[in-house]
Amino acid sequence: MNIYFDNAATTPIENEVIEVMLSVMKDKYGNPSSIHRFGRETKVLIEDARKKIATILNASPSEIFFTSGGTESNNTVIYGAINDLGIKNIITSPIEHHAITHTLDMFEKIGLVKVHFAKINEKGQIDLLNLEELIKSNPNSLVTLMHANNEIGNLLPINDVSRLCSKYKVLFHSDMVQTIGKFDINLNNIEVDFVSSSAHKYHGPKGIGFLYINGKNKIKPLIYGGGQERNMRAGTENIYGIAGMAKALEIATTNMVDIQTHIKKLKLYAVSQLKANIKHIQFNGESENNGLYTIINFSVPKTNNSEMLLYNLDIEGVAISSGSACSSGSNSASHVLKAINISNEFTSLRISFCKYSTFDEIDVFINLLKRLL
Ligand SMILES: Cc1ncc(COP(=O)(O)O)c(C=O)c1O
Repeated sequence: MNIYFDNAATTPIENEVIEVMLSVMKDKYGNPSSIHRFGRETKVLIEDARKKIATILNASPSEIFFTSGGTESNNTVIYGAINDLGIKNIITSPIEHHAITHTLDMFEKIGLVKVHFAKINEKGQIDLLNLEELIKSNPNSLVTLMHANNEIGNLLPINDVSRLCSKYKVLFHSDMVQTIGKFDINLNNIEVDFVSSSAHKYHGPKGIGFLYINGKNKIKPLIYGGGQERNMRAGTENIYGIAGMAKALEIATTNMVDIQTHIKKLKLYAVSQLKANIKHIQFNGESENNGLYTIINFSVPKTNNSEMLLYNLDIEGVAISSGSACSSGSNSASHVLKAINISNEFTSLRISFCKYSTFDEIDVFINLLKRLL
């Protein structure tokens, strides 16, 4: 039996999405920048996808820019804020994805920006008073905080943060890679300047995503070349990816309530079974009963057996993750778990579900875990 519980790392592509992508690959090959009929055809396809995505998120199509995914979207915002918007201070948290933290490190090292970390508590929740202090003392800054953490599933109180940013007139970027496609997100109701998204987290293809740039902000591209994406992102467009991403987001949002209900039940069941069967288990961040409904992160005391746990689970056909799988399969201690003081005396695991996950799979996984520990 193969069990895939690593959906926060990536999700399998939906069949209907594959069909849309295949039909584009077979029938549409014009370069969208070409003036002739073949080019116009693929241009229309791109603009239809943009409209669809914008409508779902209640944004304007002119605010959606296609990129290669979450990493590029995050880099574009940071680069643009520093280069084009005169940002000298960036306020963030210690538990952001490396697509933010490593980018900020690089810009700080070359002296272009000063990075300030808002405090978080041992549950990974942001200290809003401390955030306000940081914003107050750095008036011309960018706040970048992820909507949901990919390791421990914590959810940012995004409306509180956006209100703070508006109150002090600082820019607000949110990495919504883990939440777009999983919640009903209305960008017209959240005061946010930039949002990053990635299709492979909601059963779309890899290597495609988008950046939302609120119409009132103007930044320059990260990648220069042709004038694609209204001069915001050069390079011939990934037309299959774009069409597939729009379809994936449409499916995810059309069936959202049913999918959410199913996965929330799975999570409740998994937490109760883990508590009942695994001795000395502790849940990390908000993942036991709050946070993102797809993620559970937990620790067990280290034993000789737990060191090899991920490999042994893999041999038995179960794929899960330690911390974040987004960092090239590295198994070093996660910066997120370190930031919330999870001791090295524990082995920490993340399981993450999608709509295809089942109760039977949870039973198999927990029995196996019990046996392997
Ligand atoms: C929160 C978060 N941000 C950014 C990324 C990077 O996105 P991508 O893989 O599309 O570059 C990921 C995962 O890969 C993520 O979970």
